[in-house]
Amino acid sequence: MSQSQVRENPWPGILSADGPRRIAPKELISQKEALGPIVPMLRAAEVSSLEGRHAAVGAFNINFYSQAEGILEGLRRANAPGILQASRGANKFQGGPEKIAKMAAEAVKNSEHSLPVCLHLDHGDDASAIECLGAGFGSVMLDVSKLDCDANIAAVREIVQLAHPRGISVEAELGELSGIEEHISSEKSTYADPTKVAGFFERSGADALAIAYGTSHGPSKGAGVAKLAIRIVDESYRGMRDSNLDMRHFLVSHGSSTVPQELVDEINSFGGQIRGARGIPMDRIQAAIKAGIRKVNIDTDLRLAITATFRRYFAENPGIERGSANLAGIKNALDSKPATIDPRDCLGHIDKELMRSSPKGTDIEEIMGLVKERVASHVAYLCNAFGCAGLAEKTEGHSLEEMAASYSG
Ligand code: G3H
Ligand code: 13P
Ligand code: ZN
Repeated sequence: MSQSQVRENPWPGILSADGPRRIAPKELISQKEALGPIVPMLRAAEVSSLEGRHAAVGAFNINFYSQAEGILEGLRRANAPGILQASRGANKFQGGPEKIAKMAAEAVKNSEHSLPVCLHLDHGDDASAIECLGAGFGSVMLDVSKLDCDANIAAVREIVQLAHPRGISVEAELGELSGIEEHISSEKSTYADPTKVAGFFERSGADALAIAYGTSHGPSKGAGVAKLAIRIVDESYRGMRDSNLDMRHFLVSHGSSTVPQELVDEINSFGGQIRGARGIPMDRIQAAIKAGIRKVNIDTDLRLAITATFRRYFAENPGIERGSANLAGIKNALDSKPATIDPRDCLGHIDKELMRSSPKGTDIEEIMGLVKERVASHVAYLCNAFGCAGLAEKTEGHSLEEMAASYSG
Protein backbone atom coordinates (compact mmCIF):
# COMPACT_ATOMS: atom_id res chain seq x y z
CA MET A 1 0.00 0.00 0.00
CA SER A 2 1.39 3.45 -0.87
CA GLN A 3 1.69 6.31 1.59
CA SER A 4 -1.37 8.04 0.10
CA GLN A 5 -3.43 4.94 0.77
CA VAL A 6 -2.57 4.94 4.47
CA ARG A 7 -5.77 5.28 6.46
CA GLU A 8 -6.95 8.58 7.86
CA ASN A 9 -5.51 9.83 11.15
CA PRO A 10 -7.74 8.16 13.76
CA TRP A 11 -6.97 10.79 16.40
CA PRO A 12 -7.41 14.17 14.73
CA GLY A 13 -6.31 16.91 17.08
CA ILE A 14 -3.95 14.58 18.89
CA LEU A 15 -1.73 13.21 16.20
CA SER A 16 -0.16 16.16 14.44
CA ALA A 17 -0.76 16.42 10.71
CA ASP A 18 2.78 17.55 9.96
CA GLY A 19 4.61 14.53 11.31
CA PRO A 20 5.16 13.05 14.72
CA ARG A 21 5.59 15.29 17.73
CA ARG A 22 8.67 14.17 19.64
CA ILE A 23 8.63 13.63 23.36
CA ALA A 24 10.21 16.16 25.66
CA PRO A 25 13.99 16.47 25.74
CA LYS A 26 15.55 14.24 28.38
CA GLU A 27 16.14 16.93 30.96
CA LEU A 28 12.46 17.87 30.90
CA ILE A 29 11.13 14.37 31.42
CA SER A 30 9.56 13.91 34.83
CA GLN A 31 9.11 10.44 36.28
CA LYS A 32 5.46 10.54 35.30
CA GLU A 33 6.30 11.40 31.71
CA ALA A 34 9.19 8.97 31.35
CA LEU A 35 6.88 6.09 30.49
CA GLY A 36 4.25 6.69 27.83
CA PRO A 37 1.49 4.88 25.96
CA ILE A 38 1.96 1.84 23.76
CA VAL A 39 -0.55 2.56 21.00
CA PRO A 40 1.43 5.32 19.20
CA MET A 41 4.45 3.06 18.81
CA LEU A 42 2.40 0.12 17.52
CA ARG A 43 0.68 2.51 15.17
CA ALA A 44 4.05 3.74 13.87
CA ALA A 45 4.89 0.09 13.12
CA GLU A 46 1.55 -0.32 11.34
CA VAL A 47 2.07 2.81 9.23
CA SER A 48 5.58 1.67 8.33
CA SER A 49 4.21 -1.75 7.34
CA LEU A 50 1.51 -0.21 5.18
CA GLU A 51 4.23 1.79 3.46
CA GLY A 52 6.03 -1.46 2.64
CA ARG A 53 8.62 -1.54 5.44
CA HIS A 54 7.15 -4.24 7.66
CA ALA A 55 7.73 -3.60 11.34
CA ALA A 56 6.87 -4.69 14.85
CA VAL A 57 7.89 -3.18 18.17
CA GLY A 58 9.94 -5.30 20.58
CA ALA A 59 8.52 -5.93 24.06
CA PHE A 60 11.23 -7.04 26.46
CA ASN A 61 10.72 -8.51 29.92
CA ILE A 62 12.41 -6.86 32.88
CA ASN A 63 13.19 -8.09 36.36
CA PHE A 64 16.00 -5.80 37.55
CA TYR A 65 17.56 -2.41 36.82
CA SER A 66 20.54 -3.40 34.65
CA GLN A 67 18.31 -5.52 32.43
CA ALA A 68 16.07 -2.48 31.86
CA GLU A 69 19.14 -0.30 31.34
CA GLY A 70 20.48 -2.73 28.71
CA ILE A 71 17.18 -2.79 26.85
CA LEU A 72 17.07 1.02 26.79
CA GLU A 73 20.63 1.17 25.49
CA GLY A 74 19.69 -1.33 22.76
CA LEU A 75 16.72 0.86 21.80
CA ARG A 76 19.02 3.88 21.68
CA ARG A 77 21.43 2.11 19.34
CA ALA A 78 18.55 1.16 17.05
CA ASN A 79 16.71 4.47 17.49
CA ALA A 80 13.64 2.34 18.16
CA PRO A 81 10.57 2.76 20.34
CA GLY A 82 10.25 -0.08 22.82
CA ILE A 83 8.24 -1.76 25.51
CA LEU A 84 9.53 -2.76 28.94
CA GLN A 85 7.22 -5.43 30.27
CA ALA A 86 6.93 -6.89 33.74
CA SER A 87 5.19 -10.18 34.47
CA ARG A 88 3.37 -10.88 37.71
CA GLY A 89 6.50 -12.79 38.71
CA ALA A 90 8.66 -9.72 38.06
CA ASN A 91 6.30 -7.48 40.03
CA LYS A 92 6.36 -9.93 42.92
CA PHE A 93 10.17 -10.22 42.75
CA GLN A 94 10.56 -6.46 43.11
CA GLY A 95 7.82 -5.97 45.70
CA GLY A 96 4.95 -4.71 43.55
CA PRO A 97 4.11 -2.73 40.43
CA GLU A 98 4.90 0.70 41.93
CA LYS A 99 8.45 -0.43 42.62
CA ILE A 100 8.89 -1.83 39.11
CA ALA A 101 7.43 1.36 37.62
CA LYS A 102 9.78 3.52 39.67
CA MET A 103 12.71 1.35 38.58
CA ALA A 104 11.72 1.56 34.91
CA ALA A 105 11.17 5.32 35.06
CA GLU A 106 14.53 5.75 36.77
CA ALA A 107 16.25 3.70 34.06
CA VAL A 108 14.58 5.80 31.36
CA LYS A 109 15.60 9.04 33.07
CA ASN A 110 19.20 7.83 33.45
CA SER A 111 19.43 6.55 29.88
CA GLU A 112 21.09 8.65 27.25
CA HIS A 113 18.03 9.16 25.10
CA SER A 114 14.43 10.29 25.11
CA LEU A 115 12.90 7.62 22.92
CA PRO A 116 9.27 6.49 23.33
CA VAL A 117 9.13 3.78 26.00
CA CYS A 118 6.08 2.10 27.52
CA LEU A 119 5.79 -0.03 30.65
CA HIS A 120 3.41 -2.96 30.15
CA LEU A 121 2.05 -5.68 32.45
CA ASP A 122 2.77 -9.06 30.83
CA HIS A 123 0.34 -11.97 31.42
CA GLY A 124 -1.71 -10.23 34.09
CA ASP A 125 -4.86 -11.45 35.78
CA ASP A 126 -7.65 -9.09 36.78
CA ALA A 127 -6.21 -8.28 40.23
CA SER A 128 -2.70 -7.50 38.94
CA ALA A 129 -4.07 -5.55 35.97
CA ILE A 130 -6.14 -3.35 38.27
CA GLU A 131 -3.15 -2.86 40.56
CA CYS A 132 -0.99 -1.72 37.61
CA LEU A 133 -3.57 0.81 36.39
CA GLY A 134 -2.67 3.18 39.19
CA ALA A 135 1.02 2.35 39.34
CA GLY A 136 2.56 4.01 36.28
CA PHE A 137 1.99 1.33 33.66
CA GLY A 138 0.89 2.52 30.20
CA SER A 139 -0.52 -0.83 29.14
CA VAL A 140 -1.77 -4.02 30.78
CA MET A 141 -2.37 -7.53 29.51
CA LEU A 142 -5.28 -9.57 30.78
CA ASP A 143 -4.43 -13.18 30.07
CA VAL A 144 -7.62 -15.14 30.59
CA SER A 145 -7.46 -17.12 27.38
CA LYS A 146 -8.24 -20.31 29.30
CA LEU A 147 -11.83 -19.00 29.61
CA ASP A 148 -14.26 -19.55 26.77
CA CYS A 149 -14.33 -16.76 24.21
CA ASP A 150 -17.42 -14.95 25.59
CA ALA A 151 -16.11 -15.01 29.17
CA ASN A 152 -12.67 -13.87 27.95
CA ILE A 153 -14.29 -10.92 26.13
CA ALA A 154 -16.41 -9.97 29.14
CA ALA A 155 -13.39 -10.01 31.48
CA VAL A 156 -11.29 -7.93 29.06
CA ARG A 157 -14.15 -5.46 28.59
CA GLU A 158 -14.21 -4.80 32.34
CA ILE A 159 -10.50 -3.96 32.40
CA VAL A 160 -10.84 -1.81 29.26
CA GLN A 161 -13.54 0.23 30.99
CA LEU A 162 -11.16 0.97 33.86
CA ALA A 163 -8.02 1.40 31.74
CA HIS A 164 -9.07 3.59 28.80
CA PRO A 165 -10.26 6.56 30.89
CA ARG A 166 -6.68 6.63 32.25
CA GLY A 167 -5.20 6.44 28.73
CA ILE A 168 -3.93 2.92 29.44
CA SER A 169 -4.25 0.31 26.72
CA VAL A 170 -5.23 -3.33 27.15
CA GLU A 171 -3.83 -6.47 25.55
CA ALA A 172 -5.83 -9.70 25.57
CA GLU A 173 -5.08 -13.23 24.40
CA LEU A 174 -6.95 -15.57 22.09
CA GLY A 175 -5.94 -19.23 21.92
CA GLU A 176 -3.36 -20.73 24.27
CA LEU A 177 0.39 -20.91 23.99
CA SER A 178 2.25 -23.90 25.32
CA GLY A 179 5.23 -23.49 27.62
CA ILE A 180 5.84 -23.04 31.29
CA GLU A 181 6.64 -19.79 33.02
CA GLU A 182 6.13 -18.92 36.65
CA HIS A 183 2.42 -18.25 36.28
CA ILE A 184 1.76 -19.71 32.88
CA SER A 185 1.54 -23.37 32.20
CA SER A 186 -0.07 -25.08 29.31
CA GLU A 187 1.03 -28.37 27.83
CA LYS A 188 -0.34 -27.82 24.40
CA SER A 189 -1.08 -24.93 22.11
CA THR A 190 -4.60 -24.13 21.04
CA TYR A 191 -4.40 -21.97 17.96
CA ALA A 192 -6.45 -18.79 17.78
CA ASP A 193 -9.44 -18.85 15.45
CA PRO A 194 -8.79 -16.02 12.94
CA THR A 195 -12.49 -15.62 12.18
CA LYS A 196 -13.00 -14.52 15.81
CA VAL A 197 -10.28 -11.85 15.92
CA ALA A 198 -12.10 -8.80 14.51
CA GLY A 199 -15.17 -9.57 16.62
CA PHE A 200 -12.98 -10.02 19.69
CA PHE A 201 -11.55 -6.51 19.25
CA GLU A 202 -14.95 -4.98 18.58
CA ARG A 203 -16.71 -6.63 21.52
CA SER A 204 -13.92 -6.36 24.10
CA GLY A 205 -12.50 -2.93 23.25
CA ALA A 206 -8.97 -4.37 23.58
CA ASP A 207 -6.19 -2.48 21.80
CA ALA A 208 -3.89 -5.45 21.25
CA LEU A 209 -4.47 -9.17 20.94
CA ALA A 210 -1.97 -11.97 21.42
CA ILE A 211 -2.92 -14.74 19.03
CA ALA A 212 -1.65 -18.27 19.49
CA TYR A 213 -0.18 -19.51 16.20
CA GLY A 214 2.37 -22.10 17.34
CA THR A 215 5.00 -20.12 19.24
CA SER A 216 5.59 -21.06 22.87
CA HIS A 217 7.24 -19.66 25.98
CA GLY A 218 10.68 -20.67 27.19
CA PRO A 219 13.83 -22.03 25.54
CA SER A 220 12.43 -25.31 24.12
CA LYS A 221 10.10 -24.48 21.28
CA GLY A 222 10.91 -27.58 19.22
CA ALA A 223 7.50 -29.13 18.65
CA GLY A 224 5.78 -25.83 17.91
CA VAL A 225 8.35 -24.60 15.39
CA ALA A 226 7.33 -27.34 12.96
CA LYS A 227 3.69 -26.38 13.39
CA LEU A 228 3.99 -22.60 13.18
CA ALA A 229 0.89 -21.35 11.41
CA ILE A 230 1.65 -17.91 9.95
CA ARG A 231 -1.65 -18.19 8.06
CA ILE A 232 -3.42 -17.59 11.39
CA VAL A 233 -1.70 -14.21 11.61
CA ASP A 234 -2.41 -13.50 7.97
CA GLU A 235 -6.11 -14.34 8.17
CA SER A 236 -6.52 -12.50 11.49
CA TYR A 237 -4.93 -9.35 10.09
CA ARG A 238 -6.94 -9.48 6.86
CA GLY A 239 -10.12 -9.71 8.94
CA MET A 240 -9.03 -6.68 10.95
CA ARG A 241 -8.31 -4.66 7.81
CA ASP A 242 -11.66 -5.61 6.31
CA SER A 243 -13.27 -4.23 9.48
CA ASN A 244 -11.08 -1.07 9.47
CA LEU A 245 -9.49 -2.11 12.74
CA ASP A 246 -5.83 -2.04 11.78
CA MET A 247 -4.86 1.51 12.80
CA ARG A 248 -5.95 1.27 16.45
CA HIS A 249 -5.80 -2.46 17.06
CA PHE A 250 -2.74 -4.65 16.86
CA LEU A 251 -1.66 -8.29 16.84
CA VAL A 252 0.94 -9.57 19.30
CA SER A 253 3.31 -12.53 19.08
CA HIS A 254 4.26 -14.09 22.42
CA GLY A 255 6.89 -16.78 22.87
CA SER A 256 9.00 -15.29 20.08
CA SER A 257 12.56 -15.69 21.33
CA THR A 258 15.07 -16.89 18.76
CA VAL A 259 17.14 -18.76 21.39
CA PRO A 260 20.56 -18.11 19.79
CA GLN A 261 22.55 -21.35 19.76
CA GLU A 262 25.78 -19.48 20.49
CA LEU A 263 24.33 -18.27 23.81
CA VAL A 264 23.23 -21.80 24.71
CA ASP A 265 26.69 -23.12 23.81
CA GLU A 266 28.36 -20.39 25.82
CA ILE A 267 26.24 -21.17 28.89
CA ASN A 268 26.95 -24.89 28.57
CA SER A 269 30.67 -24.33 28.05
CA PHE A 270 30.79 -22.54 31.41
CA GLY A 271 28.99 -25.19 33.48
CA GLY A 272 25.36 -24.71 32.46
CA GLN A 273 23.12 -27.57 31.39
CA ILE A 274 20.63 -26.33 28.84
CA ARG A 275 19.26 -29.22 26.83
CA GLY A 276 16.85 -29.31 23.90
CA ALA A 277 16.99 -25.56 23.32
CA ARG A 278 15.33 -24.33 20.16
CA GLY A 279 13.91 -20.93 19.28
CA ILE A 280 11.74 -19.45 16.57
CA PRO A 281 13.91 -18.87 13.49
CA MET A 282 14.21 -15.17 12.73
CA ASP A 283 12.81 -15.58 9.23
CA ARG A 284 9.59 -17.03 10.76
CA ILE A 285 9.23 -14.03 13.08
CA GLN A 286 9.80 -11.75 10.11
CA ALA A 287 7.17 -13.68 8.14
CA ALA A 288 4.74 -13.20 11.04
CA ILE A 289 5.51 -9.46 11.09
CA LYS A 290 4.91 -9.31 7.36
CA ALA A 291 1.59 -11.07 7.94
CA GLY A 292 0.46 -8.51 10.55
CA ILE A 293 2.20 -8.88 13.94
CA ARG A 294 3.05 -5.47 15.47
CA LYS A 295 4.38 -6.38 18.97
CA VAL A 296 6.92 -9.16 19.51
CA ASN A 297 7.51 -10.47 23.06
CA ILE A 298 11.02 -11.48 24.08
CA ASP A 299 12.06 -12.77 27.48
CA THR A 300 14.03 -16.01 27.02
CA ASP A 301 16.71 -14.48 24.74
CA LEU A 302 17.55 -11.90 27.39
CA ARG A 303 17.57 -14.55 30.13
CA LEU A 304 20.10 -16.48 28.04
CA ALA A 305 22.26 -13.39 27.45
CA ILE A 306 22.26 -12.61 31.18
CA THR A 307 23.04 -16.20 32.22
CA ALA A 308 25.87 -16.42 29.68
CA THR A 309 27.30 -13.17 31.07
CA PHE A 310 27.16 -14.40 34.66
CA ARG A 311 28.76 -17.75 33.83
CA ARG A 312 31.53 -16.28 31.69
CA TYR A 313 32.33 -13.67 34.37
CA PHE A 314 32.97 -16.23 37.09
CA ALA A 315 34.86 -18.54 34.71
CA GLU A 316 37.15 -15.73 33.57
CA ASN A 317 37.63 -14.23 37.03
CA PRO A 318 38.25 -17.16 39.37
CA GLY A 319 37.74 -16.28 43.01
CA ILE A 320 36.28 -12.82 42.30
CA GLU A 321 33.30 -13.64 44.50
CA ARG A 322 35.50 -13.88 47.63
CA GLY A 323 34.65 -11.03 49.95
CA SER A 324 31.44 -10.12 48.14
CA ALA A 325 28.23 -11.68 49.44
CA ASN A 326 26.39 -10.36 46.38
CA LEU A 327 28.74 -12.02 43.89
CA ALA A 328 29.07 -15.18 45.99
CA GLY A 329 25.28 -15.55 46.00
CA ILE A 330 25.13 -15.31 42.20
CA LYS A 331 27.90 -17.88 41.84
CA ASN A 332 26.31 -20.29 44.34
CA ALA A 333 23.02 -20.14 42.45
CA LEU A 334 24.77 -20.87 39.15
CA ASP A 335 26.67 -23.78 40.71
CA SER A 336 23.63 -25.31 42.37
CA LYS A 337 21.21 -24.79 39.46
CA PRO A 338 23.04 -25.63 36.22
CA ALA A 339 19.80 -25.68 34.23
CA THR A 340 18.49 -22.29 35.29
CA ILE A 341 18.28 -19.36 32.94
CA ASP A 342 16.03 -17.29 35.22
CA PRO A 343 18.09 -14.35 36.56
CA ARG A 344 15.79 -14.19 39.59
CA ASP A 345 17.29 -17.50 40.74
CA CYS A 346 20.70 -15.82 40.83
CA LEU A 347 19.69 -12.41 42.17
CA GLY A 348 17.12 -13.31 44.83
CA HIS A 349 19.59 -12.86 47.70
CA ILE A 350 20.63 -9.33 46.71
CA ASP A 351 19.02 -6.35 48.42
CA LYS A 352 16.01 -5.37 46.31
CA GLU A 353 16.74 -1.66 46.56
CA LEU A 354 20.12 -2.38 44.92
CA MET A 355 18.47 -4.54 42.25
CA ARG A 356 16.18 -1.63 41.40
CA SER A 357 18.86 1.01 41.04
CA SER A 358 22.04 1.80 39.19
CA PRO A 359 24.83 -0.53 40.41
CA LYS A 360 27.44 2.24 40.03
CA GLY A 361 29.96 2.20 42.88
CA THR A 362 28.88 -1.23 44.20
CA ASP A 363 30.47 -4.68 44.09
CA ILE A 364 28.14 -5.70 41.26
CA GLU A 365 28.94 -2.70 39.04
CA GLU A 366 31.29 -4.67 36.80
CA ILE A 367 29.11 -7.75 36.27
CA MET A 368 26.01 -5.61 35.75
CA GLY A 369 27.89 -3.45 33.24
CA LEU A 370 28.58 -6.60 31.25
CA VAL A 371 24.91 -7.61 31.54
CA LYS A 372 23.87 -4.20 30.24
CA GLU A 373 26.15 -4.53 27.21
CA ARG A 374 25.06 -8.07 26.29
CA VAL A 375 21.38 -7.18 26.63
CA ALA A 376 21.86 -3.96 24.64
CA SER A 377 23.57 -5.65 21.73
CA HIS A 378 20.87 -8.36 21.43
CA VAL A 379 18.04 -5.83 21.73
CA ALA A 380 19.61 -3.62 19.02
CA TYR A 381 19.95 -6.68 16.76
CA LEU A 382 16.31 -7.66 17.36
CA CYS A 383 15.02 -4.13 16.72
CA ASN A 384 16.81 -4.10 13.38
CA ALA A 385 15.47 -7.54 12.50
CA PHE A 386 11.91 -6.58 13.55
CA GLY A 387 12.03 -3.49 11.32
CA CYS A 388 11.48 -1.04 14.19
CA ALA A 389 14.96 0.51 14.07
CA GLY A 390 14.52 4.18 13.22
CA LEU A 391 10.83 4.17 14.17
CA ALA A 392 11.40 6.37 17.23
CA GLU A 393 11.33 9.34 14.85
CA LYS A 394 7.92 8.27 13.59
CA THR A 395 6.26 7.62 16.91
CA GLU A 396 3.91 10.29 18.21
CA GLY A 397 5.09 11.40 21.63
CA HIS A 398 1.97 12.06 23.62
CA SER A 399 0.87 11.54 27.14
CA LEU A 400 -1.50 9.09 28.77
CA GLU A 401 -3.86 12.05 29.38
CA GLU A 402 -4.01 12.66 25.63
CA MET A 403 -4.63 8.98 25.06
CA ALA A 404 -7.49 9.10 27.57
CA ALA A 405 -9.00 11.99 25.61
CA SER A 406 -8.66 10.05 22.36
CA TYR A 407 -10.49 7.06 23.84
CA SER A 408 -13.38 9.20 25.04
CA GLY A 409 -13.64 11.16 21.77
O1 G3H B 1 5.77 -15.05 29.03
C1 G3H B 1 6.18 -14.89 30.16
C2 G3H B 1 7.49 -14.30 30.43
O2 G3H B 1 8.51 -15.09 29.95
C3 G3H B 1 7.61 -13.97 31.89
O3 G3H B 1 7.92 -15.09 32.66
O4 G3H B 1 6.27 -15.15 34.53
O5 G3H B 1 8.52 -16.26 34.74
O6 G3H B 1 8.33 -13.76 34.73
P1 G3H B 1 7.75 -15.07 34.26
P1 13P C 1 9.90 -16.11 25.12
O1 13P C 1 9.91 -17.12 26.22
O2 13P C 1 9.92 -16.78 23.78
O3 13P C 1 10.95 -15.08 25.25
O4 13P C 1 8.49 -15.36 25.19
C1 13P C 1 8.32 -14.27 26.06
C2 13P C 1 6.90 -13.85 26.18
O5 13P C 1 6.03 -14.23 25.45
C3 13P C 1 6.60 -12.90 27.26
O6 13P C 1 5.25 -12.64 27.35
ZN1 ZN D 1 4.03 -14.35 26.80
